[in-house]
Amino acid sequence: MGAGRPATKLLLLLLYLLFLFSHSSCSHFEALRRSSPNSAAGLCDLLLLPFGYPCTEHTVETKDGFILSVQNIPSGKNALRETRGPPVYLQHGLFQGGDTWFINPCEQSLGYLLADNGFDVWVGNVRGTRWSKNHTSFSIHDKEFWDWSWQELAQYDLLAILSYINLKTQSKVMYVGHSQGTIMGLAAFTMPEVAELIDSAALLCPISYLNHLTARFVRRAVALHLDQMLQTMGIHELNFRSNMGIQILDSLCDDEYIDCNNMLSSITGTNCCFNGSRVEYYLEYEPHPSSTKNLRHLFQMIRKGTFAKYDYGLWGNLQHYGKLHPPSFDLKDVPDSLPLWMGYGGLDALADATDVKRTISELKSEPQLLYLDNYGHIDFIMSTKASADVYGDLILFLKSRVGTGSSS
Ligand SMILES: *[C@@H]1O[C@H](CO)[C@@H](O)[C@H](O)[C@H]1NC(C)=O
Ligand SMILES: *[C@@H]1O[C@H](CO)[C@@H](O)[C@H](O)[C@H]1NC(C)=O
Repeated sequence: MGAGRPATKLLLLLLYLLFLFSHSSCSHFEALRRSSPNSAAGLCDLLLLPFGYPCTEHTVETKDGFILSVQNIPSGKNALRETRGPPVYLQHGLFQGGDTWFINPCEQSLGYLLADNGFDVWVGNVRGTRWSKNHTSFSIHDKEFWDWSWQELAQYDLLAILSYINLKTQSKVMYVGHSQGTIMGLAAFTMPEVAELIDSAALLCPISYLNHLTARFVRRAVALHLDQMLQTMGIHELNFRSNMGIQILDSLCDDEYIDCNNMLSSITGTNCCFNGSRVEYYLEYEPHPSSTKNLRHLFQMIRKGTFAKYDYGLWGNLQHYGKLHPPSFDLKDVPDSLPLWMGYGGLDALADATDVKRTISELKSEPQLLYLDNYGHIDFIMSTKASADVYGDLILFLKSRVGTGSSS
């Protein structure tokens, strides 16, 4: 990792980046600036109630003081049913929020489909995203507010939210995650206090290893040590809607091999069924902010091929873990009694099939698999055909769990 890298190289890169910032002209990413969200309304008010779905807002406090917003959609559109179905929890990915599950039309989006199929749907929003920006003692302007990675999202956010749903419903929860939502899930399932709250899990684009990631844009950011640069510059919040964020994206595009005219595919790879004419609408919601430390943790995984806790360097690791190297999450600790379903795609430039197969080989249980040759990373949540291609199978898996007794 970066620890032994000459400081001069970092300094040169910093100067290079500052040079780019001062010379920014026309940006590929102007649309991000145009469409900054300005409404104080919650997710229920924006994407559920207007379409005829019942929805309530909840807040959950984590052990480390973050106040997260969670939404509950107890039944489908204009439903008459009185009794609640089995609870399903939806965990979004990096730079996304709970809106992700409701961002396509009702008959195409997993969140609405689950509610219409009789599930009691609960929606998470991790710390730092649009509706989870409150803390008992810090504001978003404090660097302490951004001092976390997906490790804390697993250890604190997931534990707090799943405990809350468990308490409210008196039932184990079916877990659905996409991308970073699967990293968080797989890490959390190795923790007995989380595993005991979960009935089963469906993972879209499952990730625990990232070293076969092919996305050129990301590879370039890793090679440039963007994560270390941002930390050195004291930038703790990663917000691609800010001037700085847009300039960072532009600086990474400055390469003949990276076509940034298609922003999404340059970052996530080709997607088979992405509706390009909806981009302006998507940008009203996404991307959400994350932390620089989270980016650094993800880049550590790409560089080292590990599924481990955050690497603070030798001395920092001794202080945090009492060891020179950060402890790994062992997939063998995911209980083999936990039924798993996984959907992954041949064109996914982030959750590469080679890495997915390694994840599967290290689990004790055998997940049900859905492999789609022509699917990319974003297709699994935004494909206009995902309902037929993916969600039918996923919902069948969840329905097969109903009445098995473990969902009390
Ligand atoms: C943030 O949380 C505190 C409780 O710690 C609460 O008093 C305050 O109203 C919240 N602020 C917002 C904007 O929700
Ligand atoms: C793509 O989005 C446009 C604009 O929202 C819509 O009119 C069109 O029906 C969508 N296409 C598909 C295949 O969903």
